[in-house]
Amino acid sequence: MKIRVGVLGATGAVGQRFVQLLSDHPYFEIAEVAASERSAGKHYKEAVAGKWILDFDIPAQIASMTVKECKPGLACKVVFSALDSSVAGPIEEDFAKAGYYVVSNSKNHRFDEDVPMLIPEVNSDHLGIIPVQQKKRGWKGFITVKPNCSLQSYLVALAPLHRKFGVKRAIVTTMQAVSGAGYPGVASLDILDNLVPYIGGEEEKSEKEPLKILGHIEGDRIVDAKGVKFSAHCNRVNIVDGHTATVSVEFERKPTREEIIASWDEFSGEPQELALPSAPKRAIVYRTEENRPQPRLDRMQDGGMGIVVGRLRPCNVFDYRFVCLSHNTIRGAAGGAVLIAELLHRKGMLQ
Ligand SMILES: NC(=O)c1ccc[n+]([C@@H]2O[C@H](COP(=O)([O-])OP(=O)(O)OC[C@H]3O[C@@H](n4cnc5c(N)ncnc54)[C@H](OP(=O)(O)O)[C@@H]3O)[C@@H](O)[C@H]2O)c1
Repeated sequence: MKIRVGVLGATGAVGQRFVQLLSDHPYFEIAEVAASERSAGKHYKEAVAGKWILDFDIPAQIASMTVKECKPGLACKVVFSALDSSVAGPIEEDFAKAGYYVVSNSKNHRFDEDVPMLIPEVNSDHLGIIPVQQKKRGWKGFITVKPNCSLQSYLVALAPLHRKFGVKRAIVTTMQAVSGAGYPGVASLDILDNLVPYIGGEEEKSEKEPLKILGHIEGDRIVDAKGVKFSAHCNRVNIVDGHTATVSVEFERKPTREEIIASWDEFSGEPQELALPSAPKRAIVYRTEENRPQPRLDRMQDGGMGIVVGRLRPCNVFDYRFVCLSHNTIRGAAGGAVLIAELLHRKGMLQ
């Protein structure tokens, strides 16, 4: 028996990815699709008419589903939230209060001290805060969140290095795809033949969220990692899918180049150990070619769940610099959330 899941915000850019990734999933089946009152009451196919952005046909069983409103009462146990952040906060809380297990892409609960913000390879131990969240809030359900799409690439690459050598400071420059802005997103006249050196709120998220993910549980809260500093420059670029980040990093104890590559090669987490269906076989793929990773060539590594790193070299200012890439709507959004739910299931937390 598969676990029945619902997708909140199922009609948007990330919601569509959920529909794709869950359409033939070994643990989960989509039982409900929900969105705004503009879409509610329509068949899913009708609600996404003119705004379907994937090169994948809408699965027949989903196309004919009626889109519901985002209110508890949906016939499922788990809800994936791909809601616009202007509305996600209270809606997700209503679901958790009503006993649903919520896995969210939105930013609203990322800094709640009792809500785990997960990259399963890096901090699956933060799931230990969930009983505290349920007790404190009197909820039968719970909320887990995934971080911003910008940091899925560079933080996975930095995490094993931080554990061994201590990251002191890192400067990260992201080049983020247009699909990261949702649909219709950035106007074509703003982005064609252009680069926009500003994404509202993104630099703050890219600097703060890593500290929580690298942090630890202390009593009834998750506390930030100390002594690590990030500085981020976030740019919107003329790429459809795939966020690239260049990183310059300084360590407490400077490793050799070989130690860094060995740390990436050896790195694996619970998703690999449990062979979760969406887990990339290797948590990090290091490419040796001097001109990789590139979005068009590397974003679909391991079905879009891979983290691809390259160009590790000395830095004239810090210790080392390198480039990383991940698919923003798969690994950085829907796929990352599905991986969290797979982990929850295998840990017996979706009973
Ligand atoms: N795109 C990415 O790469 C990415 C990555 C990581 C995280 N995220 C986050 O994921 C969330 C979704 O992003 P997106 O890019 O998919 O956005 P999007 O394309 O704009 O989709 C937004 C979704 O929210 C629904 N919605 C809007 N107002 C609503 C309301 N009042 N009540 C219920 N539903 C409502 C929309 O339904 P209608 O179609 O009915 O309007 C649509 O399904 C955002 O919080 C975003 O920050 C996005």
